[in-house]
Amino acid sequence: MPTPRKTPAIHPDLESVMFTQAQIKKRVRGLGAELKKTYGNGEFTIVSIINGAVMFTADLMREIDNPVRLDCIRIASYGSRTKSVGTPEIVHSLNIDVAKRHVLLIDDILDTGKTITLVSGLIRKLNPASLHTCVLLDKQGRREVPFEADFVGFKIPDKFVVGYGLDFAERYRNLPCIGVLSARLQNSHEWS
Ligand code: IMP
Ligand code: MG
Repeated sequence: MPTPRKTPAIHPDLESVMFTQAQIKKRVRGLGAELKKTYGNGEFTIVSIINGAVMFTADLMREIDNPVRLDCIRIASYGSRTKSVGTPEIVHSLNIDVAKRHVLLIDDILDTGKTITLVSGLIRKLNPASLHTCVLLDKQGRREVPFEADFVGFKIPDKFVVGYGLDFAERYRNLPCIGVLSARLQNSHEWS
């Protein structure tokens, strides 16, 4: 008798899976095609907000055959909490010159809008030839600062998600899917 195909077990700390690895891959490929429409074959400079956007940036870059330059900017905002508090701060800024360059700013998730507003403002001051923004996830309902990204992977409801680069207290970034963190962990103080 053929053995039934096993569905992969859901991680015990997740309440549910929002996007599977296959769904993410398909959408990232689609975003690559959207970028191509905007940039044609021209060169652009990617600025990735780390750590959250590492996986997304790495995968998206490989969907693009344009010449690209890459730099990362590190922002601190959440600590070990699941709600953004206070003002995000730049912990490590850009190393490459973006003046007169076409810049694509990439983040994992657009939530209150504070982080991307801060980083976009900083890049604009450096006089890029153009600035576009790309986020994998958009929690539109949580915006405190009005901001619309030019390229959005998925619009999602107000749930705290982890995986594919997104963390809770620096954990879960390596999950290949994106899932809702279980409420039990969101409220626990066992980690710092
Ligand atoms: P914003 O400044 O409130 O828009 O927050 C953006 C940053 O908050 C993102 O770069 C993420 O690092 C983090 N963030 C927001 N929502 C989530 C989430 O659901 N899971 C993990 N990180 C999140
Ligand atoms: Mg982040």
